[in-house]
Amino acid sequence: MDREDIKALLAAEGAQMELLLKRALEVKLREMDSYVHLRGLIELGNVCEKNCLYCGLRRGNARVKRYCLTDDEVLSCARLAHELGYGSVAIQAGERTDAGFIARIERLIREIKKFDGGSLGITLSLGEQSEDTYRRWFDAGAHRYLLRIESSDEELYRKIHPGDSKHSFSRRVSCLESLLKTGYLTGTGVMVGLPFQTLDHLAGDLLFFKQMDVAMVGLGPYIPHPDTPLYRFKDLIPGAKERMDMTLKMIAVLRLMMPRINMVAATANQTIDPEGREKAIRAGANVIMPNLTPGEYRESYFIYPNKACVKDSPGQCRTCLDLRLAAIGHKIQYNAWGDPPAHITKL
Ligand code: 5AD
Ligand code: SF4
Ligand code: FES
Repeated sequence: MDREDIKALLAAEGAQMELLLKRALEVKLREMDSYVHLRGLIELGNVCEKNCLYCGLRRGNARVKRYCLTDDEVLSCARLAHELGYGSVAIQAGERTDAGFIARIERLIREIKKFDGGSLGITLSLGEQSEDTYRRWFDAGAHRYLLRIESSDEELYRKIHPGDSKHSFSRRVSCLESLLKTGYLTGTGVMVGLPFQTLDHLAGDLLFFKQMDVAMVGLGPYIPHPDTPLYRFKDLIPGAKERMDMTLKMIAVLRLMMPRINMVAATANQTIDPEGREKAIRAGANVIMPNLTPGEYRESYFIYPNKACVKDSPGQCRTCLDLRLAAIGHKIQYNAWGDPPAHITKL
């Protein structure tokens, strides 16, 4: 598929859009299976050195109460993931590059790897780091890393980030290259429905994922946050339904382009549509990241407003997901890492 084919598919509406989603579901069931893989999400801390113009955790947002989980809290989340049969955890935090933080993550990875003979898979989502840091964490036992490119178009990237050297597009691309080189199953992704974003940008994002040959993609709708600079452009973005539909079409087209990658049904989908995650699964996604962060901190991980499950316990989410997925003919694969099969591109 070239850029024009992709744009035509992303523009599909009504019956044509339904056909696209149906075809993507068929391809997923044929190339993968009907299992959904879980990553128990541990939101380790919301301190961030960066100032992304769309994100509530940005350094410049003085209204966030900053926290960092203790080692004990992180390890008990990981133990809980293991007990719930999740198979994997994803450790996510605002970006920090101080030596103490880097060493602490390395130590935590080694501790988690001691459970039950290393049976818990570890995904990291800790932003841009040096190649040496990526290597240390990989050697300690993390094997997947998520770093969204946010937008693969440099001009749009610059519009949604401050213009300083801490927010460089080329550095972000080179971090992805370092992750791939280090040996991580590497994931990236974008926000859908950003101000100034066009169909051409979105088609370019899909081509970027393919060109980078990533193993995982997480994409979700942009949700305007009132305490961020980008909020003043909120009238430029499509409505919630349009952002949801475009997210679904992006997932579906990508499933056709890269049939065997893992794709996340992002929690942000659920914020703009009560059945958003199920819809994403039916459009070709196959991973869900239920939250394990202790209740008292969840509201402080305030990336965007109205996050789903903020008041639910891990046990409630587990039951809820079982039921929701059964209702759409999918099952959770428990006690497995759920890595994508060799992502052979067939179409
Ligand atoms: N809406 C949706 N997603 C957002 N993210 C950050 N801010 C927002 C927002 N306002 C996503 C980014 C980032 C991840 C941590 O959260 O894609 O990679
Ligand atoms: Fe920090 Fe990530 Fe939010 Fe940017 S998107 S401000 S790096 S937490
Ligand atoms: Fe958390 Fe439904 S998944 S309450």
